[in-house]
Amino acid sequence: MIGSRPPTLKPMNHFIRPEIAFVGGGNMAGALVGGLLKGGRIPATVLMIEPDDRQRARLALQFGVLALPAADDHLAGVPLVVWAVKPQSFAAAARPCAPFVADALQLSVMAGIRTDALVAATGSARVVRAMPNTPALVGLGITGLFATPGATAADRAAAESVLGASGELMWLARESDLDAVTALSGSGPAYVYYFIEAMIQAAGEMGLTVEQGRRLALATFAGATALARQSSDSPAVLRERVTSKGGTTYAALMSLDNDAVKSAFVRALHAARERARTLGDEFGAAAPQGASAAPDPAPRP
Ligand SMILES: NC(=O)c1ccc[n+]([C@@H]2O[C@H](COP(=O)([O-])OP(=O)(O)OC[C@H]3O[C@@H](n4cnc5c(N)ncnc54)[C@H](OP(=O)(O)O)[C@@H]3O)[C@@H](O)[C@H]2O)c1
Repeated sequence: MIGSRPPTLKPMNHFIRPEIAFVGGGNMAGALVGGLLKGGRIPATVLMIEPDDRQRARLALQFGVLALPAADDHLAGVPLVVWAVKPQSFAAAARPCAPFVADALQLSVMAGIRTDALVAATGSARVVRAMPNTPALVGLGITGLFATPGATAADRAAAESVLGASGELMWLARESDLDAVTALSGSGPAYVYYFIEAMIQAAGEMGLTVEQGRRLALATFAGATALARQSSDSPAVLRERVTSKGGTTYAALMSLDNDAVKSAFVRALHAARERARTLGDEFGAAAPQGASAAPDPAPRP
């Protein structure tokens, strides 16, 4: 047709603004992003900053999110920033982010880094500090949470929406309680594995295979915790119920008591709590907002 012209293709605005940015794209960030996407969040709304090339490629492939090697103006206007680097890396990670994140809610999963350090490093008074644990990877974690007075009810809800898919949540009234949560449940999976290792070792010494020991130990932990969860009886009552005087469990518990295992274990948790406290002293003092980038003096993880 004379005079007819092809329809003009107007550029469509397909740009979706990131709604959440992760600084650090390691194990914990991966677990949280996996949970968010399973819960229906669109990958294009998630931004990740991860300096390691291979890890970045993995994140982009696994989740379809935008993964950047360093902070840049993609961060500007993102309403929620999740801090998921090792505590040692926080100061260096925060410096290049600071110019972009002052208006955002800051959600930290870093062990030890205190909210005053997060406020100083980001310029935002809206901070939620969280202490998750690795069962978050399978949706069975438990996370302790503390919010600064500057955080609103909507901020708390936003933090819950990020962490809720990873398991249970427990809000705390005092920030210092997070050090105890770190000692209990943050480091806790390692204690459980330690006992499982001991059971597997004993199984081997008694002539069972490693696989048999592993099955028996894992099923026992899973079953005992499920029973304790359903029961209104305390763990002490449940323990006494399987401990008849002179029996096999009695023999084992007497041996544990003779070796003062319970008090040694309680001391170990105090050591973990103390380490959580000192981590904040060591790595919490980030450069103030807007400070110029400087080489990271802290050791890499
Ligand atoms: N895993 C747990 O059980 C657990 C439990 C509770 C809390 N947390 C906390 O979660 C945080 C992350 O732990 P994780 O186990 O996920 O550690 P991770 O696997 O080592 O992840 C941290 C990631 O951050 C990256 N990173 C380092 N410097 C960075 C920077 N300047 N900017 C952006 N990203 C940077 C690291 O890259 P490189 O490898 O290149 O350094 C690494 O990929 C820690 O603070 C930890 O205390 C972990």
